[in-house]
Amino acid sequence: MKRTLFLAASLGWAISMISVSSIFAGENKLVHLPEPQTDGGRPLMQVLKDRSSSRSFSSEKLSAQALSNLLWAAFGINRPDTGKRTAPSAMDRQEIDIYVATAEGVYLYEAKNNALKLIRPGDIRSLTGRQDFVEEALVNLIYVADFSKMGNAPKEDKELYSAADTGFISQNVYLYCASERLATVVRGSIDRRELAKAMKLRPEQKIILAQSVGYPKK
Ligand SMILES: Cc1cc2nc3c(=O)[nH]c(=O)nc-3n(C[C@H](O)[C@H](O)[C@H](O)COP(=O)(O)O)c2cc1C
Repeated sequence: MKRTLFLAASLGWAISMISVSSIFAGENKLVHLPEPQTDGGRPLMQVLKDRSSSRSFSSEKLSAQALSNLLWAAFGINRPDTGKRTAPSAMDRQEIDIYVATAEGVYLYEAKNNALKLIRPGDIRSLTGRQDFVEEALVNLIYVADFSKMGNAPKEDKELYSAADTGFISQNVYLYCASERLATVVRGSIDRRELAKAMKLRPEQKIILAQSVGYPKK
C-alpha cells in the first residue's frame, strides 16, 4: 500500500513533507530513506583529528538525508553485488542490527531496503542510557546482536565477536559525525533488561552498546 506520510511529523525531522512508500505488514510500517550520499565528507586525516565524544546536544533537527547518510556510514551496504557492508563482521555474519530511537518511536534500520521499520511508537530515548543527556539527543542508536545469526559458535565467541563488530560500526558513526560536525558518544551504561523489554527484543537478541547523535549545543 502506498501512502504519503508527513515524515517530519512521524519522525520529527526538519523536512516539511515528502512522499514516501509505506508498506504495512501488521504494525511494521516501513519508511524509505533518501538515497545515501556516498561521495562527500571531509578528508579522513582531518576527520581523525576531530573525532571525539561529546555529551551535549542541541534540539536542532537532523534531516532525513543526514540520517540516511549516517546509517549508511554506520553499517550500510557498500558492495551491492555481495551485500557486504561499510563495517566488517566476524565470518560476515552481519549480526548487528541498528535500532534508532527518536522522539517519535523506535525503528529498525534495514540496510537492504535503505528504510526504517517502525518497531514501536513512543519516546523511549531516556531508557537508552543511564545518563540524563540521552533523552536530549535527537537520535539514539542501539546496537543489538542477533545471536541466532551466529550459528553454533560458543556463547563466549558470540559475545566477543558481536562486541568487536559493534566497535567498527560505532567508529564509522564517530567518523561520520566528525566529518559532519555532529556530536556523538558511544555508551555502555544502559539498563539492558529494561531497554530490551521496551524494545520487545527476542531472547537471542542482546543489546551491546548505544550511541547518541545530534548537533552540538552551541
Ligand atoms: C565500550 C565503550 C563504552 C562507553 N560507555 C560510555 C558511557 O556509558 N557513557 C559515556 O558518557 N561515555 C561512554 N564511552 C565513551 C568514553 O568515555 C570516551 O570514548 C572516552 O572518555 C574517551 O573520549 P573520546 O571518545 O573523546 O576520545 C564509552 C566508550 C566505549 C569505547
